[in-house]
Amino acid sequence: MTAASLRRMKAQGERITMLTAYDYRSARLFDAAGVDVLLVGDSLGMVVLGYDSTIPVTVDDILHHTRAVVRGTQRALVVADLPFMSYTISREQALTNAARLIQDGGAQVVKLEGGRAVAPTVAALVESGMPVMGHIGLTPQAIHRFGGYRVQGRTKTAAQRLVDEAHALEDAGACALVLELIPAPLAARITASLKIPTIGIGAGPHCDGQVQVMHDMLGLQLPDEFIPKHAKQYAGLGEVILGAVLRYGDEVRAGTFPTEAQSFTMEERILAALGQSDDGDAGRAGEAAIAGDDEDRHGV
Ligand code: KIV
Repeated sequence: MTAASLRRMKAQGERITMLTAYDYRSARLFDAAGVDVLLVGDSLGMVVLGYDSTIPVTVDDILHHTRAVVRGTQRALVVADLPFMSYTISREQALTNAARLIQDGGAQVVKLEGGRAVAPTVAALVESGMPVMGHIGLTPQAIHRFGGYRVQGRTKTAAQRLVDEAHALEDAGACALVLELIPAPLAARITASLKIPTIGIGAGPHCDGQVQVMHDMLGLQLPDEFIPKHAKQYAGLGEVILGAVLRYGDEVRAGTFPTEAQSFTMEERILAALGQSDDGDAGRAGEAAIAGDDEDRHGV
């Protein structure tokens, strides 16, 4: 997958699948399942690092997790988020930070939030050879301005602004656009009017692709935690993990784990020779057994 594949998929009417991924293991699994785009999103701050918004996330955080995701990916396109205030201070700052994510992190595309105001930055990044994905609608980095995670574009003025922003980003050279939390008919209208693909999250079924935060999609929460309305849970991994860890704890406390099946043996004669001062055969056999310890650990 490349940035250009996204536009080709739209032209051929193929829907794009995108999921967030933050580490090697999730990237390997999602890549093996054929997900087209892996997003190292700044949602990392909330679902992995435990912040209450995406605002504290740094370029170094995204870089660290992007490298892990890239190591776990063979086919998918890896997109890395430019976090809050990492691309708005100056053109040079945006170029430097995007270059870090692409050159040091191994991402193929960077994503940034905003419309008209960031279009010149998008153009500069694209001009320098760095593909850019835009993100409009509810843009979580502006949460203090929005005052909450609310649906955007419901009034005529707000809807028109989103249509204009989408076109400004396309004209600036963005390779795709995330549409977050906007009414489905508005997302359909924007999608039909663009040549570049739209990827929706809480933007209805008529976008060219869909993106979800992996924790929402896999049900990786405690039973009483909030699940956004736009998310569908395809699994209940939180409950599976809770059940498994409770059982593990019970078995360790009861002494029923580990059993012989998870234990390693050694020669009786070496055990019998322990504590004897003799450095003869048994001593040498002991050293050989120690040299073989690594193999035992891997179950050989
Ligand atoms: O950071 C993120 O996960 C995102 C998605 C919600 C699109 O930007």
